[in-house]
Amino acid sequence: MKPSQPLRILHLSDLHFGPPFVPDVAASLLELAPGIKADAIVVSGDFTQRAKREQFQAARDFLDRLPDVPRLYVPGNHDVPLYRVKERLTNPLGLYREFICHDLNPVLKLDRAVLVGLDSTSPHSAISNGRIHSWQLEACERSFADVSSDATRIVVAHHHFAPAPDYLYDRAMPQAKRAIVRFVEDQVDMILGGHLHRAFIGNTLDFYPGVHRERGIVIIQSGTTTSRRGRGREREKNTFNVIDITEDTISVTHYLYFDAQASFEPASRHRFPRRKSSLPPESWRLSGTWSDSSEGSKNTAKTAARRWAKPFFSLLLALRPTTNWAAMWLSADPASADRITSELIKKPSAVCSRKTPRCQNGKTFPEGKAGE
Ligand SMILES: [Fe+2]
Ligand SMILES: [Fe+2]
Repeated sequence: MKPSQPLRILHLSDLHFGPPFVPDVAASLLELAPGIKADAIVVSGDFTQRAKREQFQAARDFLDRLPDVPRLYVPGNHDVPLYRVKERLTNPLGLYREFICHDLNPVLKLDRAVLVGLDSTSPHSAISNGRIHSWQLEACERSFADVSSDATRIVVAHHHFAPAPDYLYDRAMPQAKRAIVRFVEDQVDMILGGHLHRAFIGNTLDFYPGVHRERGIVIIQSGTTTSRRGRGREREKNTFNVIDITEDTISVTHYLYFDAQASFEPASRHRFPRRKSSLPPESWRLSGTWSDSSEGSKNTAKTAARRWAKPFFSLLLALRPTTNWAAMWLSADPASADRITSELIKKPSAVCSRKTPRCQNGKTFPEGKAGE
């Protein structure tokens, strides 16, 4: 490929072979794909709906009909059996490895880009959310260590590191900020993902200012490319992205499936400058004279403190009414203690739950006056 030609990546996600899969939309994509002339194809997880053998087989048949260019695949939470508990515990990604890709954390080296795939599924510690482990971040760092400075560095994971900027408020993966800090250090240019079932193209700085505020990472989320599971503004919609990388820019074209035309058409375009400079020398960050660094470590410490404190305070809040009564009971004389006990038995409603319709701001309201 000539350096003047952009490197083009076709980014698909959330195919969901099984009941939600839409054959007509998939057929339209297969028709369109050769004309896109992509240099590589990325599929960011959820190839199937329920990780069944026949669903993986159908996904494999579909992938084989896409243009024959280098691929990078990562698994999604739907590629792990949900109800087949024994399989989930013992060999959760067995069928994925058999049909889609044996390597769960693959690395794809192209002419002017390196893509690192991270398996964010977490079948033993989460139902649908994901996790990225320290060893994966270390492996990611090693993969980028010997990459030339002008090559584009791309991370691909199914689960999102930043919430979509919309009204659905989907939380990012636990410890997503820790991963973002590491990716910034690794000089990652962009993160590709799926799972949210709606596209968004943004920047990590919108979600987490981090340590190096001049060095955000472009986030490229794809909606569901071939299923009925679109959410938010892409409910019942299908999308994919085409990413063009040149020496100076990263351009993302977001394609949406239009029912009237029965085809995918560009719906929006986004353009970002490529980074030109390296991060400041390490000594700047370690000397303590560079304020961003100390702020970053303070933020990390705060995050860790919050993580530990949150369950403790939640427990305390849950027990608050009980502990108040318990304190009074312990300090009271036997006669008063009996009175308190009978009060507790008589008036369980003294404890106001915010879920109770008659309650607002932790106070009780008489029937018929809710919300006043
Ligand atoms: Fe999905
Ligand atoms: Fe997912």
